[in-house]
Amino acid sequence: MQVQSLFITATGTNIGKTHTTVKLIEAFADKGFCVGVFKPIETGVDTFPHDASLLLKVCQKVNKNFKDLMPEDITAYTFPLPAAPFCADTEQIIDLNRIMEKYHELSQLCDILLVEGAGGLMVPVTKEYMMINLAKELNAKVLLVTPSKLGCINDTLLSMSALRSYDLEFDWCVNIFEDKESFSEVTQPFYDAVFPEWWSVEEGLQRFISTY
Ligand code: GTP
Ligand code: MG
Repeated sequence: MQVQSLFITATGTNIGKTHTTVKLIEAFADKGFCVGVFKPIETGVDTFPHDASLLLKVCQKVNKNFKDLMPEDITAYTFPLPAAPFCADTEQIIDLNRIMEKYHELSQLCDILLVEGAGGLMVPVTKEYMMINLAKELNAKVLLVTPSKLGCINDTLLSMSALRSYDLEFDWCVNIFEDKESFSEVTQPFYDAVFPEWWSVEEGLQRFISTY
């Protein structure tokens, strides 16, 4: 069976991609999937990659094929500068083929591979290649994680617009975290009116998984 892939992106950095991916690993495993995880590029890595380490630890609990891997095995590149990959890659070492090779390697170890992007969709990996190009090249379904803070409607609509323009199949969810208290008044009325099916990471993951 060909591996399925789900690309987890967000409207930007620090929105809750890793948080959501952790929950997805657990939920897919509960449903009986052999789930794997890939963080193609992680920046802001001094001594150890925080995202890759956490994602691997959670994955190792549910997939024995990942048991002997190290965090660096589930990333293609890490860089110390906390910046977009293109800027963090000061020596221009990124080779997109290496990302695809790593993807195919990890695909062999699971039947669904969760791929956590870096930052948002229009984050440059090289001068011309953005995170959204990677999602497209992987032929992945996309899950867009959006924040609950003021300004999120605009960011969410812009990301949706980008996904549509690249003809990517996607679903989206709100990580209700920042400005949690005011979300129901400041943001939710719009979502209720325009996207009555909207869901939150906290409450909607099970239903999302049930479509698999
Ligand atoms: P990058 O990969 O760095 O772009 O960030 P990200 O989108 O993966 O965000 P991440 O999941 O790391 O969340 C950012 C920060 O917010 C982390 O310190 C999380 O602990 C915290 N966080 C995000 N969502 C939640 C949440 O729902 N509950 C709690 N308790 N913490 C959250
Ligand atoms: Mg992350």
